[in-house]
Amino acid sequence: PLPRPFAVPLPLPPVAKPYRSDGTTDYYELVQRAAEADILPGLRTPIWGYDGKFPGPTVRARSGRRTVVRVRNTLGAPTVTHLHGGHTPPESDGFPTDLVAPGAQRDYVFPLEQRAATLWYHDHRMDYTGPQVWRGLAGFFLVGDEEEAALPLPSGERDVPLMICDRAFHTDGTMPYPVRDDGPGAREAFMGGLLGDVILVNGAPWPDLAVDRARYRLRLLNGSNARTYELALPPGGKMVVIASDGGLLTAPHPVELVRLAPGERADVVVDFAAYRVGEHVELRNLLGEEGPQSRVMRFTVAREARDDSAIPQTLSRIERLDPATASVTRDFSFTSGSLHGHTGWMINDKPFDVRRVDARPKLGQVEIWRLTSDVSHPVHLHLAPFQVLSAGGEPPEGPLGWKDTVELRETQTVEIITRFTGYRGRYVMHCHNLEHEDMAMMSTFEVV
Ligand code: C2O
Ligand code: CU
Repeated sequence: PLPRPFAVPLPLPPVAKPYRSDGTTDYYELVQRAAEADILPGLRTPIWGYDGKFPGPTVRARSGRRTVVRVRNTLGAPTVTHLHGGHTPPESDGFPTDLVAPGAQRDYVFPLEQRAATLWYHDHRMDYTGPQVWRGLAGFFLVGDEEEAALPLPSGERDVPLMICDRAFHTDGTMPYPVRDDGPGAREAFMGGLLGDVILVNGAPWPDLAVDRARYRLRLLNGSNARTYELALPPGGKMVVIASDGGLLTAPHPVELVRLAPGERADVVVDFAAYRVGEHVELRNLLGEEGPQSRVMRFTVAREARDDSAIPQTLSRIERLDPATASVTRDFSFTSGSLHGHTGWMINDKPFDVRRVDARPKLGQVEIWRLTSDVSHPVHLHLAPFQVLSAGGEPPEGPLGWKDTVELRETQTVEIITRFTGYRGRYVMHCHNLEHEDMAMMSTFEVV
């Protein structure tokens, strides 16, 4: 039986503390450990977590302040850690074969020369990202900066990270991840990506958060392996999007629905003063039809409170990348294909191969990438944040913002524009449906 919705309070992941700080740098250590978590009532769920937690501790970092995260692997399998949305030198970006062996450790160096944004870190081991994230290897990494801190946006306890992900459980509380090589048909069962019937927010099933009658900033992250959400506060509840993957938009964008494919983030402000004390407000998933997956979490308006926050009409300035300055246009198709008698997911008809480089953008160069799909694929570029020029032939709606993951909806073409800055070296682009990624829908580019 599924757990009762709204029976547990929303957990907040602990905030990581640096073990050392100096004039330029904060040093953290995260230990990847096997542990047990209380996710379902009365049952213990074995997980893998950073510091034994799922989600892992939240790193709160500052733009321009070097952050070094030592990851120590005490698990029985190799790992790779990637800071999703990080503008990171290649040796610290978590290339899928840069393994940290069991018993070993690695210092990931993040210069964070980038604007404030809701980032997250997660496992990125080649062929095993799906199972290792499913077991719990993921956490928030929030970058702040002066521009954002100067705005009167909700902050402190009213700035809440929400990692939304689905999982399936056995009756004993374990979270099974089927084995891909489990005989005929197993591989095909993976093709769409793994779904669960329980929606977790910060690791708790359909939790409840008691809120003040005031504005809150909710940092929505779709940390699911394969599920896409359309999040809403029915009937007709307003959310104001203030930030996308790459931080603040130019201006606030009121919406009734936020669509998030795996890996995508949106920061929204919700004003609970629109409700009465005692009222319940459900965050729902309109793609979950009538099933339990249509529920996500609940807010209970608990008390009157003073609110000095506001949403300024101008949030940030963003340079709009001009297509006329692009020196190259590249095409990438995201489709299924067959190789050695197996069906898999490919980019330009090729499966991922670490020895192959598929594009060599020049440092500082502006490029347009034209991405086409067969079924829905959330495409994620490491290193280089981008702007969406068009999706399905239409310019994107809403104010300008930076993205690092964009959903190609069925048979859609999405054009993005980006400038490759900061570092030379090898990076990946891949589908963020983690089973698609593990089934080789990944490609290497090298900034030269
Ligand atoms: Cu969130 Cu290459 O990953
Ligand atoms: Cu995909």
